[in-house]
Amino acid sequence: MSVVRADKYLSVVKNVTRSEAKKLLRAGCIAVNGKVCKNGDAKIDTQKDEVFFNGLRLEWKEHIYIMMNKPAGVVSASKDPHEKTVTDLVPEELQRTGLFPAGRLDKDTTGFVLITDDGVFAHNILAPGKHVPKTYIVGLTRPVTQQEIRELADGPVLDDEKLLPVLVECEIKDETKYRVILQEGRYHQIKRMFAKQQNPVLSLHRIRMGKLFLDAQLQPGECRELTDEEVELIASRDISCVEDVM
Ligand code: URA
Repeated sequence: MSVVRADKYLSVVKNVTRSEAKKLLRAGCIAVNGKVCKNGDAKIDTQKDEVFFNGLRLEWKEHIYIMMNKPAGVVSASKDPHEKTVTDLVPEELQRTGLFPAGRLDKDTTGFVLITDDGVFAHNILAPGKHVPKTYIVGLTRPVTQQEIRELADGPVLDDEKLLPVLVECEIKDETKYRVILQEGRYHQIKRMFAKQQNPVLSLHRIRMGKLFLDAQLQPGECRELTDEEVELIASRDISCVEDVM
């Protein structure tokens, strides 16, 4: 979409309602290509026009993509009547209408959550058959046997359905910590897979989506906006990323 109405442009870029945007326009806060624009119906070419808000250049972004290091105890939802959600933790300057987490981590799972307002992108990385690999560090009750690793690599069976192969690799320093790479994300998949092997999951932390790692600088509960290049890395279905992390 390269041409939008001035009030729409402002409401998206400044995260305000359409009526607030109209008020700002009427107040003369907006200049387009050097001329004050007071008309909400005016058309703005998002690729070509230079738009200023009180003298500061605005940058058009149709969608926003936010990486969060989800803390435990917070639910992966946009809104919840009783619980704190991941979108509640997004700071004011990154807030937009329509933000939601692209995919769910359990309440007690920590790590990489993508929060966006782009439903098409979310569908492209989440829909069955898309197979964007996700990497987790899983704390288990006991070490996994070679036989159990082979079973998962062959494809775990849950609810009588054989799922895509799961890669499991022991962390060198700790015999009960494993890197686990899923190619699809079934409901509670990791907990159910290991429960079936009588090896309950004690901790679960997502460190990677596609080819993009969780930023190690982000403390639990912190987030930052992703660059276009980083967003592209998430969509990578290249399972060879398995080798990158092993
Ligand atoms: N698998 C689970 O069991 N829980 C998660 O949060 C993610 C993957």
